[in-house]
Amino acid sequence: MAGDGVIGIHDLSFATTEFVLPHTALAAHNGTEIGKYHHGIGQRSMSVAAADEDIVTLGAAAAEPLTVRHGTDRIRTVVLATESSIDQAKSAGVYVHSLLGLPSATRVVELKQACYGATAAVQFAIGLVHRDPAQQVLVIASDVSKYELDSPGEATQGAAAVALLVGTDPALVRIDGPSGLFTADVMDFWRPNYRDAALVDGQESIAAYLQAVEGTWKDYTEQGGHPLDEFSAFCYHQPFTRMAHKAHRHLLNTCGQDTDEAGINRAVGRTTAYNAVIGNSYTASVYLGLAALLDQADDLSGRSVGLLSYGSGSVAEFFAGRVVPGYREHLRTEAHRAAVDRRRTLDYAAYRELHEWSFPTDGSNHPTPAQSTGSFRFAGLRGHKRVYERR
Ligand code: CAA
Repeated sequence: MAGDGVIGIHDLSFATTEFVLPHTALAAHNGTEIGKYHHGIGQRSMSVAAADEDIVTLGAAAAEPLTVRHGTDRIRTVVLATESSIDQAKSAGVYVHSLLGLPSATRVVELKQACYGATAAVQFAIGLVHRDPAQQVLVIASDVSKYELDSPGEATQGAAAVALLVGTDPALVRIDGPSGLFTADVMDFWRPNYRDAALVDGQESIAAYLQAVEGTWKDYTEQGGHPLDEFSAFCYHQPFTRMAHKAHRHLLNTCGQDTDEAGINRAVGRTTAYNAVIGNSYTASVYLGLAALLDQADDLSGRSVGLLSYGSGSVAEFFAGRVVPGYREHLRTEAHRAAVDRRRTLDYAAYRELHEWSFPTDGSNHPTPAQSTGSFRFAGLRGHKRVYERR
């Protein structure tokens, strides 16, 4: 049986939306000084889903490159993590399974715990692979983040999906050693079933996140994890990229270490490039941080990277990945940049119209306007059923 040390992330790919709204357009609308967005929260633009995009189309677009490169024979489990679920019963992963033509001998399930869900999926995947080293698990983190118009949270919206192939002898990152865990029953951010947009207590959510940083690190240390100075970089959940800086400063403080800005930048600066232009992608965010680090950093072969996954409510986990020598040959840097660059810029009025757009709930046929140009589209509702198409 394979040991934990040889299981990890074999491949990683992400997709984002058809549209993008620059923060300059939001600032011009609401009169915010742009420095607050660019420097205060560290965001330049946010991905905005077209009417015919959702977590299924994004998830399929993220995962397809993995199935093309590796085939589907070894994938026996698909775990889709999301907090912007499209159905109370059916897993969005079943639609993705169908769009990608995965074998019927597959288990598919959806996981939820706010932005933390994908990390639970990765940990469960490691357990499955440990039990059956021949199988690979396809983990998909897919979310569309939506807050009320004209609310403080509006500037921290975004959308993306990350697909991870978890298996033995990974080409990218080995998941290494113990996890530090933390759960606290807090109401910092939540979305009741009857709402499209999340409710949030912004300052409370930042405090809850920092408390979770401290809690996970304490447990990680007690579990015998690596010392802080063994990590070359830290990938944090990034609801906005300045949060990674706040989180790392808090971790350094907790450990009684210096908190100079240059040191914090060295630890987290290379993880923020995608999140700064995509916005909050909830479950996908920490893995977009990992993608940015791998795509941009100098050779990290053999180095340890800390990952801190936080999901409001709240559950958090700190764990370590060791970057596999030769990983750069397997990266998808060009495709990732293309996914970001291909987005079409919206003006504020068009963004607002999309934000307010919703389906009637009468069960009749409602095609979606054809707006997206990607491989998969959400064609509409027919008799309360979601209909997807491959182009
Ligand atoms: N130039 C430079 N910086 C400026 C500025 C200017 N002109 N004006 C303000 N700033 C700075 C502020 O000083 C502040 O920095 P610090 O936090 O370092 O003090 C920063 O910009 C933000 O300003 P405010 O705190 O006044 O901003 P706000 O009250 O409008 O809201 C927010 C910020 C709370 C993050 C809000 O966007 C929000 O509610 N977002 C959603 C919740 C969220 O993302 N929470 C994060 C933790 S929870 C989590 O991680 C789970 C999840 O995914 C949701």
